[in-house]
Amino acid sequence: MSGRINLLAPEVRANPYAVYAELRRHAPVCQVDPGGYWVITRHDDVVAAFKNPQLFSNTGVRLATKPEWLGHNPFADSMVGLDPPQHTRLRNLVNRAFGPPALARLEGRVRHYAEAIVARIPEGREVDFVDAFTLPLPASVIGELIGLEPSLHSRCKRWADDLTSISANPQDEKRREEILAAVRETEAEMAKVLALRRREPREDLVTDLLQARVDGQSLSDAELMSFMFLLLVAGLETTIHLLGHCVRVLMERPDVLARLRADHSLIPRFVEEVLRYEPPVQAFGRLTTAEAVVSGVRIPAGAPVMLLIGSANHDDARFPDGDRFDMDREGVNNLPFGHGIHFCLGAPLARMEARIGLELLLSRFERFTPAGPLEWNHSFTVRGPRVLPVIAHGPS
Ligand code: HEM
Repeated sequence: MSGRINLLAPEVRANPYAVYAELRRHAPVCQVDPGGYWVITRHDDVVAAFKNPQLFSNTGVRLATKPEWLGHNPFADSMVGLDPPQHTRLRNLVNRAFGPPALARLEGRVRHYAEAIVARIPEGREVDFVDAFTLPLPASVIGELIGLEPSLHSRCKRWADDLTSISANPQDEKRREEILAAVRETEAEMAKVLALRRREPREDLVTDLLQARVDGQSLSDAELMSFMFLLLVAGLETTIHLLGHCVRVLMERPDVLARLRADHSLIPRFVEEVLRYEPPVQAFGRLTTAEAVVSGVRIPAGAPVMLLIGSANHDDARFPDGDRFDMDREGVNNLPFGHGIHFCLGAPLARMEARIGLELLLSRFERFTPAGPLEWNHSFTVRGPRVLPVIAHGPS
């Protein structure tokens, strides 16, 4: 292989897995464009880096940057950009709010939203499934989770897009104004939610977070706010793409669709294989705190590094015939949700959304056919369809 690979080149976006395979074979640790990031591509190396937060620090996560024009960044204190002991303190405080009782409480709400969304999908005519299904379900669930009124749920995606654009540090004045407006609007709505739950506690996540105590400590208002911002970003785009990949695989594989329609208990197994085969989070960032040697290659101290989950999940050394979709694979693979101390807090919720959403889709429709070209989003860290034209066919 000669020259740096550009992970945002259109041909790589369409199928990054062929490039990842080349990298694993010939340059398992190297620098790529854009940005000159170092990438780690082999499964065992990716897992080892996730397990070593002392050497691979989360303080490099771009969400934590503070552009001067903004004055502050609501993500700056969020746990995903922190290392122990600051991370440990925050994680201990929020962990319980995501435990099995909280999840059980949410299940009915997820079903409620999914039923209404699936019932609205038109039958037998072209529709963008991102608009009709993959976006509204996670937007409603995240909106509900952070305590927003249902009328505000449809704004969550725009807020999340604007909030993540902070890290790109746009030079365009108009774009900065839009982002600033979104930050103020989101902060105002979340401040309302916090004030309301303080006055009238409910059985919900925000109340649990307000009441959380570990060793006599609680979350400060700034920490609560940045955690809610983090949920909005971490829980939305990722789950949208998981659902998008599920629908795409169902369109491409009639045999798999037939098995799932005949037996809904196979849906969780299907979702696991989609998470392996098309992980929505393809890469997560770290910063080396000292020189690191990985697969014999020296990465200097202070280098931005991407742990390529997308590549690790296709590594034949861990998953035989890794480029093949096979929902009968044995064993659990949690890597799509990271590994170690920053392991995704929302993994059970994302799995639940996919299970319930698919159960309802497959109960109402017999098959799904492409109605036009799929458009990929433009990012190499989070991958999925931005536009997904589909015709959903009811039972004939
Ligand atoms: C962290 C993936 C859904 C909340 C992570 C990480 C990954 C990930 C890879 C690890 C980051 C790191 O190592 O630094 C995903 C995927 C999802 C998903 C693929 C959907 C398919 C969600 C949802 C929520 C959520 C639904 C919340 C409702 C979080 C939070 C963290 C996180 C708060 C940070 C944890 C920490 O820093 O300790 N996620 N996520 N995620 N995720 Fe998710």
